Amino acid sequence: MSTLELKDIVVDYERRGGGRVRAVAGASLSVDAGTIVGLVGESGCGKSTLARAAVGLVPLAGGSVQFEGHQVNPLTRRARPAELVKLQLVFQNPYSSLNPRRKIGSQIADGLASPSAARVAEVCELVGLPASAQGRYPHEFSGGQRQRIAIARALAADPSVIVLDEPLASLDASAQAQLANLLVELTRELGLGLLLISHDLAIVRHVADSVSVMYLGVMVETGPTLPVWSLPLHPYSEALIGAVPHPDGTGFLPESLPGEVPDPARPPSGCRFHPRCPYAFDRCSAEEPELVEIADGRSAACWLQPAGSVPALPGERAANRAVPAGVTYRQEPPTDSLEEM
Ligand SMILES: Nc1ncnc2c1ncn2[C@@H]1O[C@H](COP(=O)(O)OP(=O)(O)OP(=O)(O)O)[C@@H](O)[C@H]1O
Ligand SMILES: [Mg+2]
Repeated sequence: MSTLELKDIVVDYERRGGGRVRAVAGASLSVDAGTIVGLVGESGCGKSTLARAAVGLVPLAGGSVQFEGHQVNPLTRRARPAELVKLQLVFQNPYSSLNPRRKIGSQIADGLASPSAARVAEVCELVGLPASAQGRYPHEFSGGQRQRIAIARALAADPSVIVLDEPLASLDASAQAQLANLLVELTRELGLGLLLISHDLAIVRHVADSVSVMYLGVMVETGPTLPVWSLPLHPYSEALIGAVPHPDGTGFLPESLPGEVPDPARPPSGCRFHPRCPYAFDRCSAEEPELVEIADGRSAACWLQPAGSVPALPGERAANRAVPAGVTYRQEPPTDSLEEM
């Protein structure tokens, strides 16, 4: 069993003015010690909601979260249960989660079970902050350093898993590269497991051991990073990986995809991706494909890539349309070919 296991997670929000949004619609994911799992997908697909579900910050409408064998329940106003202290979340915007009026050292010490100056100095060193940082205030630091402070604060709790929501967004390229390398070092040296949510596919490719691709609340593909990059099995992953970085560096443009991400309050029928999919055929609008294992630890949710099939190029995959499981043909096959068999 993995250190952190999210199974069939469903999260609903109530919209102001009425109506329900199913932000996460049955998504699974696991994070093992010493590995980095990348979670990617367009804005609004439910990444942050899944991150919040992982640490018990939103109520679940379905599914379960297990951390080191303990059930993670949505937090009440009571203190965080002791067995969950080793599961930490670093928020999308570190500046808003740091108190501007308190010195860094005491904010890092908040995370410690038994606060000591020596341990605060130790975690500062781990993330490459000078010891003198402890006596300063958040505004005295650059974006990259503030992100290190947020990571130091999470590390103070001696966690086994950290969920990082867009930890590198809004940093310049060199700060991003430094922090990405730091994350890899921390995973290797401390045996941490990281769930890394990022718009930046280049960084995910660089640091993540495995990747999960999310679309409109569901996982459409998961697998080891390099194989997914060299031959994406889901048409959505294919479009993302072929996507062009945004000129302002904050995201990516899946240019080959027509249309916008649909409203999760009214998801398309069948495969949620079918209205934007260049390979869609009749079955795709009628039935939702499940995430099934294809080969070598790779899974995809696509009617063109049946369970246990050989990972196929897009052109070859189209041939799978000819024999979708469970489809009955209206036309009888020619009898002579049957006789030959
Ligand atoms: N508090 C909320 N109330 C109602 N709807 C919400 C709330 N938070 C998120 N949503 C909706 O849930 C969906 C998923 O949002 P979420 O923030 O999880 O996406 P995301 O993948 O993290 O996006 P981004 O990449 O922009 O951070 C979106 O449609 C969003 O509008
Ligand atoms: Mg988000």
